[in-house]
Amino acid sequence: MRVRDAYTNWSTTYDTDRNLTRDLDQDVTQAILGHLRVARVIELGCGTGKNTALLAVIGAQVQALDFSGGMLERARAKIQAPNVTFTVADLTRPWPCADQSADLVVGNLVIEHIADLSFIFAEARRCLAPGGQCFLCELHPAKQYHGLQAHFTRDEGQVVIPAFVHHLSDYLGAAEAHGFTLRQLREWWPTPERTSAPLLVSFLFGV
Ligand SMILES: C[S@@+](CC[C@H](N)C(=O)[O-])C[C@H]1O[C@@H](n2cnc3c(N)ncnc32)[C@H](O)[C@@H]1O
Repeated sequence: MRVRDAYTNWSTTYDTDRNLTRDLDQDVTQAILGHLRVARVIELGCGTGKNTALLAVIGAQVQALDFSGGMLERARAKIQAPNVTFTVADLTRPWPCADQSADLVVGNLVIEHIADLSFIFAEARRCLAPGGQCFLCELHPAKQYHGLQAHFTRDEGQVVIPAFVHHLSDYLGAAEAHGFTLRQLREWWPTPERTSAPLLVSFLFGV
């Protein structure tokens, strides 16, 4: 199943399914970005708006992008903040955002579905104003090496969503190539014991 169709299918239960990755990502995003206040935010792959509510507090204006109609429909129903605009957009195509139109670009659990990291950092760099920041929180590649991939369950069985492995050095290399400086890299586990590979990795880059 193609990524867009899979997410539109998943949208009906995305918020209610048991999902440790989704929940940890929300906690991480609150912990890292919660104190920030900026003028303009672009959210990449906003999904059902799980993190959009927080971003609507952080940013005076938020432009939330996603290519799944089903996910966006849920997000629009949930988030009625007047400073949030939801837009249908495929992140593998030029983003519908002007040059230097954002102070913060945020992506959560979306980059694993995109093959070309270089294009994502090029577009983020184009859209960020001087002094801007880019925050990404993604499935840790160490988990992907062991086969973990976004998936959900339907009556007909498990639906596994197409994904790409980006090594930590791929993120760092692509970011650096587009003029970003790494400010912070953190690895995250769902429990206090660090006896297995981290579930998530987060990056904060500056320009
Ligand atoms: C796992 S969900 C994450 C949603 C939200 N960021 C969150 O953390 O709950 C991944 C989202 O990325 C979107 N997505 C994946 N590939 C995309 C692309 N090429 N362009 C736009 N959205 C994309 C999907 O439609 C889906 O809503």
